[in-house]
Amino acid sequence: MASRAKWVVGNWKMHGSLADNAGLLESIAAAPASGARIGVCVPFPYLVQARDVLLSSSVAWGVQDLSMYPKGAYTGEVSAQMAVEFGATLAIVGHSERRTYHREADDVVAQKTLRALEAAITPIVCVGETLEEREAGSTEQVVGRQLDAVLAVLDAQQAERILVAYEPVWAIGTGKSASAAEAQAVHAFLRERLRAKSAALDAVTILYGGSVKPGNATELFGMPDIDGGLIGGASLVADDFLAICRAAA
Ligand code: G3P
Repeated sequence: MASRAKWVVGNWKMHGSLADNAGLLESIAAAPASGARIGVCVPFPYLVQARDVLLSSSVAWGVQDLSMYPKGAYTGEVSAQMAVEFGATLAIVGHSERRTYHREADDVVAQKTLRALEAAITPIVCVGETLEEREAGSTEQVVGRQLDAVLAVLDAQQAERILVAYEPVWAIGTGKSASAAEAQAVHAFLRERLRAKSAALDAVTILYGGSVKPGNATELFGMPDIDGGLIGGASLVADDFLAICRAAA
């Protein structure tokens, strides 16, 4: 089995303030290095603050979305190259909240993934089913379709550079995580989908996201195909986020 990088990445979503961020970032920067890579994806206005605090640490920082275009007349959008100017090395793409609230289709997520890779940013490609889709037995069809759309526009070398995050929509922000067995089953399915494109993709890191907390992180991360987490609410509390990072080591 390929050795896969363990990652724990915080997704701050639309939370934070310069004052609140300072202590959180300093606590994360000061944490002793563990076996897992750590990252935080912050709202665009806080990229400078994240860079200034994290630059001398091993913690990566990044963004929660990118434009599907390299540059141009796209009012309000932020390009991958602009994120790179602020030291971003991570970008969440295809988060369910953008697929839902901004109607981001699979082909848009695929183009955003390409823009990230072209700028040497590591894309965190999010896939996940709704409760209705799970209850209809469509989980693998949905997450398989979402992943295939991205893999279809990448060559094997590009695909080796992505991270994937399985985030069951029904577990996001609910306090009710998928069970370790439920998450492992989907992660194993995604792993097979990656291998079908290229054996080298066995090494792609697959994160779990959806109500990861200090109390469930060890069990989740102990599953063979769960390589870490994409953390929402718990990433806003330093002690909780660092406890989750330690669980992934
Ligand atoms: O991207 C991570 C996020 O969707 C998970 O949120 O609050 O359930 O950890 P939360």
